[in-house]
Amino acid sequence: MPSSSESSGLPPRSPSLAYCCRRPTGWSCGGYLPVLSLLVVLLLFFFASWSLLLHCPTPRLTALNTSSFPLSILAVNGERSPAEATAEDEISFSSSSSSSSSSSSSSSSSSSSSSSSSSAAAASAAAVVCNRSRYLSEAELSDDQLTVLVPGFSIERIAILRNNTRRMASYPFVRAIYVLWQNMDIPVSRFDEPNERFDSDGAPIHVVGQRSNSLNNRFLPRTFIESSAVAIMDDDILVDKSSMEFAFTVWRENRQRIVGYFPRAHLCSPENGSWIYWPKRLRPKGERTKYSIILTKAMLLRTEYLFDYTCHMPSGVREMIDETMNCEDIAMNFMVANYSNMAPLAVVGKVKDAGDRWTTKDTRAARVGLSERADHYEARSRCVNELAKLWGGMPLRYAYNKAVPV
Ligand SMILES: *[C@@H]1O[C@H](CO)[C@@H](O)[C@H](O)[C@H]1NC(C)=O
Ligand SMILES: *[C@@H]1O[C@H](CO)[C@@H](O)[C@H](O)[C@H]1NC(C)=O
Ligand SMILES: *[C@@H]1O[C@H](CO)[C@@H](O)[C@H](O)[C@H]1NC(C)=O
Ligand SMILES: *[C@@H]1O[C@H](CO)[C@@H](O)[C@H](O)[C@H]1NC(C)=O
Ligand SMILES: *[C@@H]1O[C@H](CO)[C@@H](O)[C@H](O)[C@H]1NC(C)=O
Repeated sequence: MPSSSESSGLPPRSPSLAYCCRRPTGWSCGGYLPVLSLLVVLLLFFFASWSLLLHCPTPRLTALNTSSFPLSILAVNGERSPAEATAEDEISFSSSSSSSSSSSSSSSSSSSSSSSSSSAAAASAAAVVCNRSRYLSEAELSDDQLTVLVPGFSIERIAILRNNTRRMASYPFVRAIYVLWQNMDIPVSRFDEPNERFDSDGAPIHVVGQRSNSLNNRFLPRTFIESSAVAIMDDDILVDKSSMEFAFTVWRENRQRIVGYFPRAHLCSPENGSWIYWPKRLRPKGERTKYSIILTKAMLLRTEYLFDYTCHMPSGVREMIDETMNCEDIAMNFMVANYSNMAPLAVVGKVKDAGDRWTTKDTRAARVGLSERADHYEARSRCVNELAKLWGGMPLRYAYNKAVPV
């Protein structure tokens, strides 16, 4: 078990923790760190006595030279490698499904196998999307309001989505709502028809056609965003006005962090040392309940992170998300935790899930069958392990408290 010191000032992304969690059998997570420190102390002691005995100059700490560890996972691809793309504007920028990239960490050379024309197209699309000067600078963004982004796909949930967006558009702190329509079978023009329109009595609601159904679309930077915070929501989620206002207030005091309503956690398996995705908060014996991930069902975050997600993440992450059709939220949590060195922040509030009740439970998970559910969580565990590899360690950090309105 990771200790509670992870919430202190110490960064938890020490390679040794990830190393621990990739070690097959023999080492429990709690056991390995102390053993490693003991080893280091012994080595230091050894070198100290050695130098005293032989009157050598002060020894260098060769024991800490990580290149002498078999840490393949330290190989972070730190390059700003633009992700593969299919076309040239921000709406269509997405990982190409025909791209040959593997989900392994060594994807830096994967583009070499695609044809030169498609990689040239990808490069030019990325050059446009990742041209920072196309977007407002942080100083130009509005601080009083937030922009709501909702990926839309299901025609069955359109009525709910229409109602939810209309409701949220009436909140004075909502600047605009953008429905990112990514169902390729239903043209976005449909929503221009009088009886299909998204009505608003407050902030404008725009339906923006996407050219792919990628989960990465919700995290694309957008030229139309004019606020320093975005709220990203699923199409069946409605956050009550005072709850959303509270979350926005909390975010303004915690701008580097993801703020949201649905906390989840990661943990290290004591059995085999791999990472596990935990579909709720973690309640370890003798420790306070903790969490490290906020779901994209409803999250508030810095607009700037959309650019970072799309343009600065290790290469292979966006591709992995398109291949697995999962885990975009985990990746965003990894990126933000690594960037901020902080845990996300869960808020308590009234959130209406597609069901009737006001709830903070993951009712979507409850809706799917048990086996499918197990698969889903296993896939997410695989993502956590894969992402830890791509990040060269485990950047996620634990938070112990939720923000509660008083
Ligand atoms: C670390 O070890 C490698 C191989 O043993 C060596 O080539 C390298 O110079 C060492 N780095 C430092 C900083 O001592
Ligand atoms: C980036 O975008 C700005 C504003 O749209 C444009 O003037 C500039 O030429 C672009 N830069 C590149 C390298 O494409
Ligand atoms: C949407 O709102 C209308 C009017 O308030 C209501 O009659 C309708 O049942 C709602 N639809 C859904 C799916 O919630
Ligand atoms: C490791 O153990 C956990 C249970 O602690 C299990 O869910 C997971 O599938 C195992 N992973 C591997 C790679 O064996
Ligand atoms: C994680 O953060 C560190 C420090 O800010 C940075 O140097 C590193 O590139 C980041 N890692 C990834 C994979 O983005």
